[in-house]
Amino acid sequence: MDRKTFLGTTALASVGLFSHSISLPVFSKKNKINIGLIGVGARGQSHLDELCKRDDVEIIALADPDSDWAIPSSLEILKRRSRKEPQIFGKDDNDYLRMLEMKEIHAVIISTPWEWHVKQGIAALEAGKKVGMEVAGAISIQECWDIVHAVERTGTPLMFLENVCYRRDVMAVMNMAKRGVFGELLHLQGGYQHDLRAVKLNDGKSPYGKGVEFGDNGFSEAKWRTPHSVNRNGELYPTHGLGPIAMMTDINRGNRLVSLSSVATKSRGLHKYIVDNGGAQHKNAAVDFKLGDIVTTLLTTANGETMMLSHDTSSPRPYSLNFRIQGTHGLWMDDLQQIHIEGKTKPHVWETDQTWMETYDHPLWKKYSAEAKNAGHGGMDFFVLNAFVECCKNNEEFPLDVYDMATWSVITPLSETSVKEGGSKQDIPDFTQGKWSSRKNTFNHRADY
Ligand SMILES: NC(=O)c1ccc[n+]([C@@H]2O[C@H](COP(=O)([O-])OP(=O)(O)OC[C@H]3O[C@@H](n4cnc5c(N)ncnc54)[C@H](O)[C@@H]3O)[C@@H](O)[C@H]2O)c1
Repeated sequence: MDRKTFLGTTALASVGLFSHSISLPVFSKKNKINIGLIGVGARGQSHLDELCKRDDVEIIALADPDSDWAIPSSLEILKRRSRKEPQIFGKDDNDYLRMLEMKEIHAVIISTPWEWHVKQGIAALEAGKKVGMEVAGAISIQECWDIVHAVERTGTPLMFLENVCYRRDVMAVMNMAKRGVFGELLHLQGGYQHDLRAVKLNDGKSPYGKGVEFGDNGFSEAKWRTPHSVNRNGELYPTHGLGPIAMMTDINRGNRLVSLSSVATKSRGLHKYIVDNGGAQHKNAAVDFKLGDIVTTLLTTANGETMMLSHDTSSPRPYSLNFRIQGTHGLWMDDLQQIHIEGKTKPHVWETDQTWMETYDHPLWKKYSAEAKNAGHGGMDFFVLNAFVECCKNNEEFPLDVYDMATWSVITPLSETSVKEGGSKQDIPDFTQGKWSSRKNTFNHRADY
């Protein structure tokens, strides 16, 4: 597809998901939107800082019970960015409900611990606030259905803020896939391979600090994320790996995930880290972590592709999302940025992907590379928030929606059952309830936001 055609297809971006009309305020492009943030820890503050760069957004409320760090640091960001002080809702864990009573709030962004996502998302939708929902999303099968039903019942939309769908190389490779460079897609890989030992265990004062504390004695994610490693064994963080490859294979838009099977290694890394850094006598050396160090999940799709996800957060290793996209003409891999395309690259060897990345750089990245330059995670955080804000302002459907949230999140509880049952096959529910076959994938055609 040439650039002209590419731009011409943006109208498709508004092809309908909701058959009923959405009774929410319509914003002209000039209008500002008023946003309330629920959860302003590490991630919420990064969203806050990014949103403060925009003149079409006002942050009018923050809800977070942490008055020691989260709220004061957020207020500092607002001051540094010369923004007005918002209303603070920090009395307790449920004070976000009072914030949702504020009529002036048009949209909320939820960046809280995983166990709060669906509860807070449903409350916000019922209050008529558009929702930007951080990953990981829902944590049980029931929660996946509950959030889908809440969007359908209220007619208020939710965007799943899976930022990796906007990574520059990922968008270029999606562009290549959609333009047939790989031929027909066969097998895709993704994952979350991130040494989180110093995030899951710290000194209670800072992330990446020395220390082997977690739970009430931990700081930031060590407070709430680590208990998931104690109590659960499965693919606990599927969406960074799955989101991009799901968009490349039209999942929920002409294709769907059908089944999965997961296996886990033994659990060693977190215990070893505690012993190495806190000593064998430290009380946490007695903790029995259920999460296997490496969890591998195989998925099948209705259109005949296979996928593999890897969750690997407790071992020494360089960061990688382990992407690999393979089709009938060749393949690309994220690690070492390598490509092989039959007839275009030398036979039987990998080549560097640099010129391919330049040739297929996505129009969105060409358009916004200056704005994205200093945004989080190599710029991709700009794009996910830009899409959220612009869709709110223009009353358009979100590019990543509640069906994506449910379909990508349900991998976690299903993988837990599969691991427990020695790799048993689990059927993946169709949260679109049949709509997947007629929905269109317009993600790669988006040239505005
Ligand atoms: N997309 C990404 O790249 C990315 C990166 C980091 C984190 N995240 C996600 O963002 C979320 C938050 O992670 P984090 O690193 O900011 O964790 P964090 O622990 O630093 O922040 C969580 C914040 O939520 C607050 N909170 C807890 N219960 C609350 C409640 N009931 N109401 C309001 N606030 C509440 C806590 O006080 C804390 O300030 C997680 O879901 C995480 O997976 C996504």
